[in-house]
Amino acid sequence: MTHILVAYATKHHSTQEIAEAIAAELRSHGHEVDCAEAGHATASGYDAVVLGSAVYMGRWRREAKHFLKHERERLAAIPFWIFSSGPVGGGSGDAEKDEAWQEPKSLMELAESLGVREHVVFGGRLPEHPGNFVESAMVRNTPPDERDNRDWDRIREWTQGVATALAGDRLDA
Ligand SMILES: Cc1cc2nc3c(=O)[nH]c(=O)nc-3n(C[C@H](O)[C@H](O)[C@H](O)COP(=O)(O)O)c2cc1C
Repeated sequence: MTHILVAYATKHHSTQEIAEAIAAELRSHGHEVDCAEAGHATASGYDAVVLGSAVYMGRWRREAKHFLKHERERLAAIPFWIFSSGPVGGGSGDAEKDEAWQEPKSLMELAESLGVREHVVFGGRLPEHPGNFVESAMVRNTPPDERDNRDWDRIREWTQGVATALAGDRLDA
């Protein structure tokens, strides 16, 4: 059994719900899993980590960024995966622009230098109760049926890939 941490950073909880779904799927594969806010978590004592963050204005939430930077040595020594949660509505049609908007490039470069197994972008969900003018404008400008863009099947399938990779690691050990 592998002891796994699923750490997340969220503002309006939709990333937390993705993290919880990932944790539940990993548990169903027989792993012991803790799901915790990145700001209150450490990678110490875990055999593997999944780290996820909501993306706002092209940036990760501070807690996830700090986790990646502060835990870099531990992460480099164990298998770890990353997800970003963001896109809602249709893209801009410009792939390069969309990519920069969905995943912070410098952090992904850092994660790659530490040996991240995979980094993935999942659709997000706009807040039901926007907290400020910018959030309200974004909600207003996104059609209602595109405000929750989370694809639970895709999230589950991706997590199954994580479980398969961990099982492969055990066989290799
Ligand atoms: C003000 C604002 C800015 C956003 N900026 C981005 C962005 O840069 N890239 C992106 O992919 N999604 C962006 N989104 C969508 C959010 O990332 C999405 O709603 C996410 O699921 C929120 O996660 P949370 O509920 O865990 O806070 C933005 C949403 C808002 C309201």
